[in-house]
Amino acid sequence: MKLENDLLLRTLKHEQVERPPIWLMRQAGRILPQYRALRGSLSGFKELVSTPQLAAEVTIQPIDELNVDAAIIFSDILVIPEAMGLDYEMVEKVGPSFPTTITSLQQVNKLESGAIAAERLEYVYEAVKATKKGLNNRVPLIGFSGAPWTLLAYMVEGGGSKTFSKAKKLLYQEPELSHQLLSKITDTIIAYLQNKIDAGVDVVQVFDSWAGLLSPAHYKIFALPYIEKIVASIKRVPVITFAKGAHHAIPEISEFETDAIGLDWTIDASVVKSYIGDRKILQGNLDPCLLYAKPEEIEQSTLDLVKKFESKHIVNLGHGVYPDTPLDGVKTFVNTIKNYSYTPS
Ligand code: CP3
Repeated sequence: MKLENDLLLRTLKHEQVERPPIWLMRQAGRILPQYRALRGSLSGFKELVSTPQLAAEVTIQPIDELNVDAAIIFSDILVIPEAMGLDYEMVEKVGPSFPTTITSLQQVNKLESGAIAAERLEYVYEAVKATKKGLNNRVPLIGFSGAPWTLLAYMVEGGGSKTFSKAKKLLYQEPELSHQLLSKITDTIIAYLQNKIDAGVDVVQVFDSWAGLLSPAHYKIFALPYIEKIVASIKRVPVITFAKGAHHAIPEISEFETDAIGLDWTIDASVVKSYIGDRKILQGNLDPCLLYAKPEEIEQSTLDLVKKFESKHIVNLGHGVYPDTPLDGVKTFVNTIKNYSYTPS
């Protein structure tokens, strides 16, 4: 079925477009009052994630309210560890917490993986189907997964951390165990993303949120080969790879079969273009905190951003939108792009 707004898909095919598409990482949830109202009426985050009709509703809210060019399915990267047998809790105002963490090979051996683990995520596929129906072909739907290293980081650390030093320690002390865990996570991600594509997502994004914590040497060993395998397994829809903080890895990622590369706000598009040229579509990379600024500054910086990228660009923030971001700031950002044209008349 043809989409009413296929700007994102045309951009990902390197077609010439009238303006860059825009969506925001973490646009579903966090910032919208409609989300908070619904969320407040439920037992918790996990009820929302595991109820397809509600997840679909929250996914569609930013399309109605912000008029962005893509939806991203409301879910979390931590559904994968859970499907593998490692439960998490979402603690109010704190974040994710794993009552049990991975410390031994026996535990890794016991984890479910691949298609069998992915089968347990039927509620996500149902949410994708319900969202596609609710969107009624207005905009494309993005599916996502955490990257293997980021998921290992949570499974070993047990929750958020500034340093993830327990997870990093495992890589140094137990490299074999680490690789076995990364392989199992990778197999699960591949099956999961295939199922999401079967259910109807039009694009997928892989989030390596903690990429920047690893040294370049460790990133090469413990992250890149697994990301390469994942992106190579996705043939039917375009893929966006976002390795936050791992600038050193961009040349290697640009050799992968990824269609687009997400950039955080600490690197300039011109620097990336100077070594990868126009081979990949770039996504990003406004500082999320710019949205706290005055409207004129948001508008000017957004225009500066699109000029810097020139073309082959998906406008986004350099990381997820922060929960206390004023809605007006988000709207100024989105509307500046919606009114922009690559060829001013
Ligand atoms: O992008 C979207 O809008 C889709 C929904 C989405 C959520 N999590 C919903 C969510 C996506 C893409 C994610 C991915 C995710 N989850 C990442 C990768 C992206 C990134 O920001 O780097 C990570 C690291 C997580 C893990 C996670 N989930 C944390 C650390 C937290 C707590 C802090 C927070 O608010 O992000 C979550 C909870 C979570 N996931 C919320 C939402 C809307 C807040 C839960 C609530 O409503 O209380």
